Formats: sequence, C-alpha cells, structure tokens
Amino acid sequence: MYEQEIEAAKKHFEEILREQIERAKRIREEGDWIDYSKLKPIIIGVAGGDGIGPYITEQAQRVLEYLLRDEIQEGKVEFRKIEGLTIKNRVKHMQAVPDDVLEEIKKCHVLLKGPTTTPKKGDPWPNIESANVALRRALDLFANVRPVKVPELGIDWVFFRENTEGAYMLGSRGVMIDDELAIDFRVITAPGAERIIRAAFEYAKKNNRRKVTVVTKANVIKKSDGLFLDMAEKVAKDYPEIEWDDWFIDIMTAKLIDPSRRSQFDVIVLPNLYGDILTDEAAQIQGGVGTAGSANIGKRYAMFEAIHGTALRMVKEGRAKYANPMSMIKAGAMMLEHLGFKDKAKRLDMAIDICNNFERKIVVTGRPDGATGEEMANYVIETLKDPKLEEKWKKYTGQKP
Ligand code: IPM
Ligand code: MG
Repeated sequence: MYEQEIEAAKKHFEEILREQIERAKRIREEGDWIDYSKLKPIIIGVAGGDGIGPYITEQAQRVLEYLLRDEIQEGKVEFRKIEGLTIKNRVKHMQAVPDDVLEEIKKCHVLLKGPTTTPKKGDPWPNIESANVALRRALDLFANVRPVKVPELGIDWVFFRENTEGAYMLGSRGVMIDDELAIDFRVITAPGAERIIRAAFEYAKKNNRRKVTVVTKANVIKKSDGLFLDMAEKVAKDYPEIEWDDWFIDIMTAKLIDPSRRSQFDVIVLPNLYGDILTDEAAQIQGGVGTAGSANIGKRYAMFEAIHGTALRMVKEGRAKYANPMSMIKAGAMMLEHLGFKDKAKRLDMAIDICNNFERKIVVTGRPDGATGEEMANYVIETLKDPKLEEKWKKYTGQKP
C-alpha cells in the first residue's frame, strides 16, 4: 500500500537533502557584508505591493526623499520604482516573485516593500507562495530584525528572527500522501543558525546591550532546535561580556506579558516561525502590528517592510487613503540606519515618536474621521523640519536620543 507514494516522497526528500547540504555549504562560503559607503549611487527599490501597500509606501518614500534630498541631488542615492510585485502579476506568471521582477529587484541594493497578498487555500487566488518568503530566500535575507519599544513599561526589545530556514524554508514543499497524511519539513543548518545568532550578539555588542535571549523548543524538537541552541552556546563563547540565557517558546510568550519579567529581556534571537509569532505578540504590546517595522537583512541585499498585511477591506471600502503609513515610515527609518545614515535615522525615529506618541496633532484612524496617510506623512515632514526637533523629543521623553 502506498508504495508509489512512498517512493515519490523518498525521492522528494532526497532532493531536499541534497539541496540543503548545498545551501549550508554556500552559507559557509559566503562573502562579507556589503559596504554601502563605497556605492554610488545607492539604489533604493520601491515596491508598493497590494491593497493599502502602494498608498502607504508612497508616503514613506516621500518622507525618505525629503530626508535624503541632498544625497539624491548629488547622485549618491537613487529611488527606483519596481513594477509587478502585485498579486495580479504574480498569479499571471504563477510565481511568488516573477523572474523579471526579481531581476529588477536584484539591480537595487535595498528594497522598500509594501505588504503583498499571501494566498492561502480557498482564497480567490491560486495558492502560490508568499512573496515575502520567496524574497527572503532569493535575496538570502537571513536576519529579520524587529525592534519593539514601550518606554513606559520598561520594554526595549530587539528581535532577531531567523528568516531563511525553520518551518518556512520548505513550507511550500511538504508531502501529502493520498490526502490522508501531511508531512512538512523544518530545516536548521549550523551555519544558518550561527550567522543569525552572531548577528544578534554583534548587535548587542555594538549597541551596548546587556543580554541575548535564545528561544527554542529544544526539549521537544530535538534535532533542529537542538542544533540552534548548540550554535548559541558556541557563539556566546565569543562574547563573554554579554550575558545570555535560553527560554522555550511557550513560556516565552507568557513572559512577554508578565510585567515583572518582561523588562529583563533585551536582544532576542529565535528560529523563523517562533519569531513570526512572538514578534506579532510583541508588536501588539507596543500598540498593534501596524506600529512595527521590520528589516530583512542579508550580507548583500536588504528589504524593509511593515509587518502587517494588505488590508484589502480598506481598499474595497474606499478607505485606502486613510491607511496609516507609520509602519512603512518606520521601516524607512530602519533602512536609513542600515545604510549608514545614522543621524537621519535617529531624527526620523524621534519625529515618529513625537507624531505618534506625544504631540499627536493629527491622528490616523483608518476612516474619514481621521487624517489621511498623506496628511500624516506631511506632519512627519513638518516635524523633521523643526530645528528644535531633538530638544522637543528630549523634553517629551526625558531621555537622551
Ligand atoms: C511576517 C508575515 C509574513 C511571514 C507573511 C506575510 C508570509 O507574517 O513578515 O511576519 O509569515 O513571515
Ligand atoms: Mg508575521
């Protein structure tokens, strides 16, 4: 019984094994980080995506173009529109990211990306793979960096979610045996785990962070999570000045809402799916997934995005222009920081803080009773123009920038 299916599955598994062995080897041999200071121009691709994506991305681009106006003028920075990263075009080609679109993206150095539709079974679209997942894999964006900050609760977390392995890497390549049995594959490689854990420790070191927390379920998922944890132990030895501990994902989700514990977390590193889930919880504590930005970083490419979806309903109900662009603007701030425009990134972060949390001269509600995304972006730009921005921020927060 099932002999044929089993043979086919074995072949499929063999293919996966060979491919992953190759991939692990490639990671071991990969070069050093790209140096943006040596590029002229730095090319920033902009892909609006689906639903509210194009609306909020356009506003984020306006803010960035304001901040980078001198660099653009001097030919140091160039914005480039990427067409075709839409569900319609993706379905037309039946590809998560159509080849010609990927080619255009690869001509850029970094990508600012709006949310894209991720179909699931039963949707009106064919069940093609997520564009996010495909881009993270195609551009080898292995570090998904998601900061979450709530000063009044003592929360200042930076998540390093592994972005190219775990349950995601082969999430579209599981095996069904005769509609009765479903098996998915989960991959952790030693070099893949090592580079994300090292990135977390490096970040901690450079930013004077105290502690790195490693999250797995290594007591149950013994092989892959076991390897992740082993790599943490190994990497941690290179950073004796940084404290580290390890938690299991279940209790970690509880501890993020435990007021007596949560402020002790600092930098957090974890495999892909755990990171997906935990960062949504963390973003909710900060005020919702719409308030969080996300950086997908690799050694050659990087992509910056909001962590929320396309909010298609808003478009259908004619409310797209009322969508809040702050998540994309925040992603833009992360992009500036990554590209080495540290002062501009800091100013933009302060402006976001002032507009979102303190001054709140206008508020976006997602409906006509609130401001439009364009008005919100204008408000951010006006705030950036204020020469007293930093003093203002210090006054509000009582902190040093
Ligand atoms: C995220 C999103 C994506 C993911 C989806 C859209 C595929 O939830 O960036 O966290 O699961 O990674
Ligand atoms: Mg998610």
